[in-house]
Amino acid sequence: MKKLIKVHVIGGARPNFVKIAPLLKLLDSSKFFKVIFINTGQHYDKNLSDNIMRDLSLRKPDLNIGVGSGSHIYQISTIMKKYEKIILTTKPNLVIVFGDVNSTVAAALTAKKMGIKVAHIEAGLRCYDDDLTEEINRRITDSLSDYLFTPSKKESDNLKKENIQGKIYLVGNIMIDSLEFFFKKKRSSKTLSNHFDGLMTFHRPENVDNKIKLGKLIKEIKKWTKKYKIIFPVHPRTLSSLRKFKFEKDILNNTNLIQTGPLSYNDFLIHMKNSKFIVTDSGGIQEESTYLGVPCFTVRKNTERPITISKGTNKLVKLEEVNSLLTKVKKKKIKISMWDGRTSLRILKFLEKIYCKDFTFEK
Ligand code: UD1
Repeated sequence: MKKLIKVHVIGGARPNFVKIAPLLKLLDSSKFFKVIFINTGQHYDKNLSDNIMRDLSLRKPDLNIGVGSGSHIYQISTIMKKYEKIILTTKPNLVIVFGDVNSTVAAALTAKKMGIKVAHIEAGLRCYDDDLTEEINRRITDSLSDYLFTPSKKESDNLKKENIQGKIYLVGNIMIDSLEFFFKKKRSSKTLSNHFDGLMTFHRPENVDNKIKLGKLIKEIKKWTKKYKIIFPVHPRTLSSLRKFKFEKDILNNTNLIQTGPLSYNDFLIHMKNSKFIVTDSGGIQEESTYLGVPCFTVRKNTERPITISKGTNKLVKLEEVNSLLTKVKKKKIKISMWDGRTSLRILKFLEKIYCKDFTFEK
């Protein structure tokens, strides 16, 4: 008789929790795995972590590393030091990491250095631009992972081109599992106005940490809101730049700009679904808007999610192009292979195949 397979599931920032929720539920109910859910604490604000866990019916983490904010080097090195101790005491057989945030690369590198197998969910995404810090996190995590679960053929091919050593499994897009779960129930939101046209988010360092770029964004927002009422959930990073560069008053007295703090998953998805358009620099929103058929303008030079452009409703744009594009928006429903709500189940089946084939287990 063998013991249960001990698995660590690592989350730290808002987008991680969306990807963790569907898989954690399956792993928790599997008779083969014993899971420890670890939150690194990279995101600690209620709206960036607690509320999203509530809306996704994600259970409370078993452990919290409590890293908080700081430079990337601080975050990664602190998580590594603290996570080493957790690995030494809990001795997992497998560590599962998600996406491309600092917590992902920190946990993956620690585990690998300590001889523990690593599985990366949402592997193989590439924008081939190291100015985006997430690209560095992705490449390092993929290069050392033993099992790489990819969302589409394109990402599997990216990994093959890099001669990645780990085993590649094409499983589909796990974020869609959460969307399917969410929209199965009738949902409503009391928080914000129902009378609005679009939704906008900006939080990437390259857009909001630079005074000139942020100033340009404010100027464009003024143009957009002459014609459209737009909801703007402000990420803490963006808020701190607006304050630092004294731009707050420029957007405060604009009745067509509905400013809020970061929205809960519930409120965000409902408002995204009801939007005529979205303007963003986020990664995940490009996929969520494609799933919902809402035109999305992504203010970036490149994207690691090309399927949202070739098959979806997403368009890469320059900031100054947005104003004229907003007049031509049209919603359209889209179907993409393996965006079916069953990705987490496929991952579970692969993990069972890898770990459980000729064992009998005891609880
Ligand atoms: C992180 C991810 C990014 C992801 C985003 C989603 C990295 C490198 N970046 O960016 O890929 O798209 O999350 O939100 O991992 N802060 C708070 N409260 C919090 C967390 C952060 O006020 O709960 C503030 C702090 O001032 C902090 C800043 O936001 O310095 C940035 O937070 P950080 O976790 O470093 O990166 P994000 O910009 O959130």
